[in-house]
Amino acid sequence: MKTFQGKVAVITGAASGIGRALAERCAQEGMKVVLADIEEQALLQASQDLAAQGAQTLAIPTDVSQAEEVETLARKAFETYAGVHLLFNNAGVGAGQTAWESTLADWQWVLGVNLWGVIHGIRSFVPRMLESRAEGYIVNTASMAGLTSGPGLSVYMASKHAVVSLTETLYHELTLSGASIGVSVLCPGFVKTHIQDAERNRPAHLQNAPGEQKQLSQEEQEEAQILKRAIQKGISPKYQAEMVFEAIREERFYIYPPEFKRGIQTRMEDILQLRNPTLLLLKKEQ
Ligand SMILES: NC(=O)c1ccc[n+]([C@@H]2O[C@H](COP(=O)([O-])OP(=O)(O)OC[C@H]3O[C@@H](n4cnc5c(N)ncnc54)[C@H](O)[C@@H]3O)[C@@H](O)[C@H]2O)c1
Repeated sequence: MKTFQGKVAVITGAASGIGRALAERCAQEGMKVVLADIEEQALLQASQDLAAQGAQTLAIPTDVSQAEEVETLARKAFETYAGVHLLFNNAGVGAGQTAWESTLADWQWVLGVNLWGVIHGIRSFVPRMLESRAEGYIVNTASMAGLTSGPGLSVYMASKHAVVSLTETLYHELTLSGASIGVSVLCPGFVKTHIQDAERNRPAHLQNAPGEQKQLSQEEQEEAQILKRAIQKGISPKYQAEMVFEAIREERFYIYPPEFKRGIQTRMEDILQLRNPTLLLLKKEQ
């Protein structure tokens, strides 16, 4: 997709971080912007801020883990603008400990938002986009955690690996069907956002019961701090949005930071050489 002016974008997780920066970038490109998020106040604020800059916006509170809410989002977007050209399935959260210590609620919440959110987006939007026959583009947000593997983030990693695979499959299916809908998978490295406060949006019925979650060991606490610092020192969401638009213009499928190439390569070589998984850890100085 080369031109954006006058077209319609839908962004989930648009109230904060990468989603908000994508919404701002869409507005700068002259698009009509549909913002969706579970956090209503922040969503309305983001929408008002864009409208104050002259953008045409529509804010639709949406929990992407709920099929009927994403269906309502798609219906309203298509009713209001008679088309959607650019879809960002971006909303995401993180939680969990080791694969066996993460609670059932951790698994249900993270897979519900990160994986089912993308599935619902595809199921509600793609048929309508195909029917409209307009040129379209879909960007699903995964993570570098979807291209590599490491300890301690099993729930998040499983959700993001699934999003990468789902998006690769979607790419093949849409290409083979002859549709004029392009697809990319966004795999950010570290971006300075509010992802570390994801618990703010955890619904009451998926909270962990008191004492259900294991206390972190000293070593695990240090690892969590290293991750937190890496995100605080990460690239700006605005720069991430620029990289995304560059990839959309080039119709390039994979969007990831070049400095992570070695990690991806190591994992691929592990697989090809039948070698056991290499442990790649964040450096302490991060
Ligand atoms: N920040 C990073 O370093 C990083 C790295 C890799 C991948 N990602 C991915 O980028 C995406 C955006 O995250 P971010 O870093 O901008 O974090 P963020 O917390 O700043 O923004 C995430 C947004 O998603 C919304 N959200 C949460 N649950 C939702 C739900 N059920 N329905 C609808 N909206 C919901 C939040 O309210 C928030 O506005 C996520 O998919 C995340 O996994 C981020």
